[in-house]
Amino acid sequence: MVVHWKGEFYMIPRPRKMKFTEGIAAKGVPVKEQICPELGVEEYCIHISPEQILLEGSPGIGLFYARTTLGQLRMIYGEELPCMEIEDGPAYSYRSFQIDCARHYFSVDELKKMIRMSAEFKLNHFHWHISDDQGFRLESRRYPRLHEISSVRAGDHFGNYHSDQKSGGYYTRDEVKDIVDYCGNLGIEVVPEVDMPGHVTAILAAYPELSCLGEPVEVGMKAGIFKELFCAGKEETFTFIEMLLDDLLEIFPGKYFHIGGDEAPKERWKACPRCQKRMEEEGLKNAQELQGYFCNRIASYLRAKGRIPIVWNEAVYGGNVDKGVAVQLWTEDKDNQIKAHLDKGGKAILAMVDHCYCDYPYGMHSLKDMYELEVSPAEFGEDGGEAVLGAECLVWTEFIRENERLEELCWPRFAASAEVGWCGKARSEYGDFRDRLTKLFPLFEKYGVHATKPEGWDPDEETAARQTEEFQMNFSEEDRE
Ligand code: ACM
Ligand code: ZN
Repeated sequence: MVVHWKGEFYMIPRPRKMKFTEGIAAKGVPVKEQICPELGVEEYCIHISPEQILLEGSPGIGLFYARTTLGQLRMIYGEELPCMEIEDGPAYSYRSFQIDCARHYFSVDELKKMIRMSAEFKLNHFHWHISDDQGFRLESRRYPRLHEISSVRAGDHFGNYHSDQKSGGYYTRDEVKDIVDYCGNLGIEVVPEVDMPGHVTAILAAYPELSCLGEPVEVGMKAGIFKELFCAGKEETFTFIEMLLDDLLEIFPGKYFHIGGDEAPKERWKACPRCQKRMEEEGLKNAQELQGYFCNRIASYLRAKGRIPIVWNEAVYGGNVDKGVAVQLWTEDKDNQIKAHLDKGGKAILAMVDHCYCDYPYGMHSLKDMYELEVSPAEFGEDGGEAVLGAECLVWTEFIRENERLEELCWPRFAASAEVGWCGKARSEYGDFRDRLTKLFPLFEKYGVHATKPEGWDPDEETAARQTEEFQMNFSEEDRE
C-alpha cells in the first residue's frame, strides 16, 4: 500500500487545524455523520481512524463542508486515507462570487455549473448582478415591461465588438426559485443586485418617466458609464423601487440585498429642478449627499423587511449613509469617507479591482494577485479586520460572450478568493496554495469546468504585456480615453 504525500495537506480552502495520526483507513471503512450543535454554523470536524471516518458538523452546512473536504481527500489520496484529525471553520462569514448576467445572459445550467464549482471551495454567497444599463434579467410580476422591454437590446457595440443582432434573455420567477433552492442546498445565499440610481438605462427604457428628463432611452448597447439616473426628486421613483423590491423579496429570501450605487454621474441631478428641490427640502449640500439620501431611503425600506442592504463604495462618499448599510469596496477611498463609514460601525466587503476582478486576463490580475488580497487594510485603522465581513471575486461580462471564456477567467481565480475568505490573515504563502491547487486540478475536470491550466496562472512579463494589449483592444479609442 502506498500513501501519497503523507505529511502534507492539499485541501482548498486550507483547513484551520489538521494533523496526521497513526494508521490508515482502508477502503470501505464506514463513514459516519454526527450532528454537533456546539459547533458554529459553518464549522466541522473530520476524524479518520483505522475503524471509521467520522464527520461532525452543524445540521446544515457543517456536514456538507465535511463531506466536501472528504471528497477532496479522496481525490488526493484515493480509496485509502491516512488517519488524521481536522477541525475547520471560516475566518469570514461572507465569501462571495459575483456574476454579471446583465451585460451577457448566461443560462440557468451555465450558472448552476459555476455555483456547483464555487460550493466545492466553500464560497457561500452568490452575488447575482441582474440589472444594468444593458439589460434587466428578471421576470417581474408587478412591472412586466421590465422583462418584455428591459431584457432585450437591439445590438451589441461593446468596445470593438459590433453586432446588430437583437439579443436578450431573462430568468423567470420559477428559474430564480430553482437557482435559489439549488444554492440553498449548497450553503449558498443568493444576493441579488439591482443597481441604482445609476446603471438603470435598461429599466428607463421601459419606464422613462422615472428619469430626470423623462425622455425615451434605449436599452444600452455599449459598455461604459451612462448619464441617465433615477430621478431622486420624484416620489414615483421611490414607489416604483419599493414595489419592485416587494416583488423580488418574495423570490430572494436571503439576508443581504445589493442596491448598487456605483458610477452615478450627477450631471442630470444637478440640472433637474425636482432633484434640486429635494436637496433644498432635505438640507443636502451637494449631489453626493443626495445619493446618500436616495440610498438611505431604499436601505431603510429593505431593513424594515429584515434585510441587510449592500452598496458599492461610491454610495457612501456623501458621508450621510446609515451605518446599517454594508459597503462593498472596489476602488480607493475618497476624502476618507469609507473609513468614516466603517468608523461609525459600517461593515465592509472587500472586492478591490486589482485583486478580485476576474474579467481581466491573468496577465493583468494574476492568480497570485487574487490570493494576496489585503484583508485588513491599514487605512481602516488599527484593526481594519473588525469591519470586514469578507471578500468577493467578481466577473463583469461586457467582453465575455461565451460560457467557456467565463469559466477560464473565473477558474481557478475564484478558488483563490475562496481561500482568502476562508483563511483570512492565516492563509499560507502563495506557493503553497499553488501547489495544492495543482494537485486538486482534477476537480475542475470532475465538474466539466474549463479552468485555466497552471501555466496560465501567473504569466511572465512578456505574456502579461501581450494580454494587456489584447485586452485593451476590446475598447474603442473613445472608450479608452
Ligand atoms: C463596478 O465595478 N462598477 C462596481
Ligand atoms: Zn431629477
